[in-house]
Amino acid sequence: MSSAPLPAQPQNPNKPVVVGITGASGSVLGFRLIEELLLLNQRVELVMTEKSYQVIFEETGLKIGGQDKAQRVIQHLNLPTERVEQLRVYENNRLDAPPSSGTHMTHGMAVIPCSMGTLGRIANGITDTLVARAADVTLKEHRKLIVVPRESPFNQIHLRNLSTLAQCGAVILPPMLSFYLPDFGTIDGQINYTVGKVLDQLGLAHNLYTRWGQHSGALTTS
Ligand SMILES: Cc1cc2nc3c(=O)[nH]c(=O)nc-3n(C[C@H](O)[C@H](O)[C@H](O)COP(=O)(O)O)c2cc1C
Repeated sequence: MSSAPLPAQPQNPNKPVVVGITGASGSVLGFRLIEELLLLNQRVELVMTEKSYQVIFEETGLKIGGQDKAQRVIQHLNLPTERVEQLRVYENNRLDAPPSSGTHMTHGMAVIPCSMGTLGRIANGITDTLVARAADVTLKEHRKLIVVPRESPFNQIHLRNLSTLAQCGAVILPPMLSFYLPDFGTIDGQINYTVGKVLDQLGLAHNLYTRWGQHSGALTTS
């Protein structure tokens, strides 16, 4: 375990959302969620697994590594530098970081995208990484845990682990393709749909997709 000092705690009392990005494909989903949360003035505590770094690079060109990860993420998202005040990035091996303890209040956690490896760890109580420990804490404190699994097809082990987590109260929210509104006609639209569904679960208002009944051509009479 690294003994470097942890990032300073902000004074802002609003509870952070913990975001875990793992080595599954779809890191763009995690970054889109972080962007939206920050724009909603929400605090974010981000943990990326070591295995996610390669996938993030392959998929977004963002090189994670070394210091100033928060600053790098803010630059990658093209957000004003001041937004870094809302973002804390913790190393996955820092089991002494705040999200590791139930005494640290949070608004909940999203693991997005969630690899089958991390899914297995969480579903079986193997809390040797900060992502898995923070998810375990979220469940034990009965806070909202949203898991966005990415694999296709699923095998029985994956399905069992997903079922275990659902039984423990987690929301299983796979990035499923949707087609029933024009919003969904682009990759961006599909990403926004999944991220919007995560925000819905967190109880946070957003405009990432048009709700059914509010689209043009919606039925107005019975
Ligand atoms: C380009 C790339 C894409 C991957 N996509 C997935 C995926 O969608 N789902 C998955 O479960 N694993 C995927 N993997 C494998 C995981 O990265 C690997 O199982 C890793 O050990 C997961 O570790 P983590 O859970 O600590 O992040 C991918 C690997 C690479 C290199």
